Amino acid sequence: MSDDAAQNWVLPHAGKRVALGVTGGIAAYKAAEILRGLQRAGCIVRVAMTEHATRLIAPLTFRALSGTHVVVDDYAPDNPDPIAHITFSQTVDLFLVAPATANIIAKFAHGIADDFLTTTYLASTAPVVVAPAMNTTMWQHPTTERNLAVLRADGVHIIEPDAGEMACGTIGPGRLSEPDKIVAATLALLDTKSNDLTGERILLTAGATREEIDPVRFLSNRSSGRMGSALAQVARARGAEVTLVAGVMSVDVPAGVRVVRALSAAEMHAAVMRELDRATVFIGAAAVADYRPAKRADQKLKKSGTTLTLTLEPTPDILAAVADARRDGLLVIGFAAESEHVVEHARAKLTRKNLDAIVANDITRTDAGFDTETNSITLLTRDRATPLELPLMSKRNAAEHILDEIARLRQQQTAQAVK
Ligand code: PMT
Repeated sequence: MSDDAAQNWVLPHAGKRVALGVTGGIAAYKAAEILRGLQRAGCIVRVAMTEHATRLIAPLTFRALSGTHVVVDDYAPDNPDPIAHITFSQTVDLFLVAPATANIIAKFAHGIADDFLTTTYLASTAPVVVAPAMNTTMWQHPTTERNLAVLRADGVHIIEPDAGEMACGTIGPGRLSEPDKIVAATLALLDTKSNDLTGERILLTAGATREEIDPVRFLSNRSSGRMGSALAQVARARGAEVTLVAGVMSVDVPAGVRVVRALSAAEMHAAVMRELDRATVFIGAAAVADYRPAKRADQKLKKSGTTLTLTLEPTPDILAAVADARRDGLLVIGFAAESEHVVEHARAKLTRKNLDAIVANDITRTDAGFDTETNSITLLTRDRATPLELPLMSKRNAAEHILDEIARLRQQQTAQAVK
């Protein structure tokens, strides 16, 4: 390789190296935006395309943007690298395929290596991220679902497509996730120290619940879902499969995370119990209402001019129900939002609800807890007498610490099982 970009590629000192695979979907043109986003973050990006992709966007576009040769056919005489599929797969920090067609997903799932991109996938030692894009019917076809399940089980990170209007005019899921979301998910993965949570299936609740009083009024709280969203993003980046049972959230759900919507405590309880069988870890980060109106009025309540008394009844305790239904190996992690005697009250919840760990939040602080960017948490685990008090940090960093603790608990559990 002679040009500067290629030199940087061989001597990887100028940033993280990303191999970008582009396949033949109508969204192929969006790969140029993804490439630019990654470059802006300092990544060195090289591009490989399938033959079909070159019919939708010219390799020259990617060559101009990346400043280096774009591989389509590694046997082509103009390919400067005689072992390109090895260079591509084994000297990169991450292999991203966007857009990924149903065809490439099927080939990856079945180990078919009949062109440069599929051979590269098989030879890859780097984390692989796949951003599917296809027609809704193809996306929902059982074959595609089966193939994606195989990829997930093989540790591939899937960035779920968005729902919306497709090029073919149909409306539904299948549209390539937004380029900035794909870039953010890729960078999050690159930031992550390891794939230490690969194999874990994390079920997580986040956000506030909403308990209806009548068709227009409800009881709720100030949870933004930011803490839960950070946990989902970091867990995904560390290799876990994540299902987020989301209440009312004022932040986006991170790419690559499966979302189940559940607004009330009862809906959240039902969704969690439905999903629990597959989970290896449960984290209750949602601020679930403890009480709901005993009866929801069918019609809007009229102002009477006198006092209105609402009778409230307790909601199901989701965390306690999960701990009660615990199977061998399931780790159950709770949160405790406390305004006084934070550690003592959190310790009492840890014991009473039979949890493996609890994350205590002091909600009297203005820079921690509900609807803040930062958090100041204390981690309590069943196996340690001394709580781990952490300083104020971003919710993302707090999530890293919580997941470090989960990884440690899992290691300990595995070591005990071997004894
Ligand atoms: O969403 P953010 O704005 O980022 O804010 C984050 C947060 C403060 C909401 C979050 O970090 C947090 O502390 N979540 C738990 C809030 C809460 O409801 O705490 P609690 O102490 O009342 O409940 C204890 C635990 O039981 C929690 O894990 C809660 O999810 C669970 N619970 C509570 C009631 C109920 N009916 N079912 C439950 O599962």
